[in-house]
Amino acid sequence: MSVQRTFTMLKPGVLQRRIVGEILSRIEKKGFKIIGLKLMQIPRSLAETHYEEHKERPFFGDLVGYVTSSPVVAMVVEGDDVISLLRLLAGKTKVEEALPGTIRGDYATQTQLNIIHASDSPESAVREIGLFFEESELIDYEDGNAKWF
Ligand code: PPS
Repeated sequence: MSVQRTFTMLKPGVLQRRIVGEILSRIEKKGFKIIGLKLMQIPRSLAETHYEEHKERPFFGDLVGYVTSSPVVAMVVEGDDVISLLRLLAGKTKVEEALPGTIRGDYATQTQLNIIHASDSPESAVREIGLFFEESELIDYEDGNAKWF
């Protein structure tokens, strides 16, 4: 196990549906440490850069349109093996594969409106954190709960 940082984003449906607290709570209960958090209206250019590896896919326009349609909650989360563990907590991308108990499994019925993004590799995490956060926006504080997780 190693301490990692990952980027995660609660997509527009989350704020609109008033479930920000519920989703944040799942991330907190798991024991991860939130070190960066902000509400953002993402400009189109940032969304296109963030998802650029998918730019040839047929849904690219819809995806960019969705994440720029209203505010998102952008986060940097730290913890042991957090990159893969947060992906497990989020659940599979396709709604028909997202198991109950996962965030997507419990809160999404349409893949194109799925509610959370989480970096898929250490390289993506570094890139995505750098796109959304300045280093000065990340707070490296003493974590009183660390011994429990
Ligand atoms: S993954 O998790 O990257 O392996 O998933 P992938 O299937 O490659 O999807 C990449 C992102 O595209 C979103 N997606 C879609 N958006 C709109 N419409 C459709 N049909 C669609 N299918 C996939 C998917 O949610 C991924 O975005 P994030 O933000 O990572 O969830």
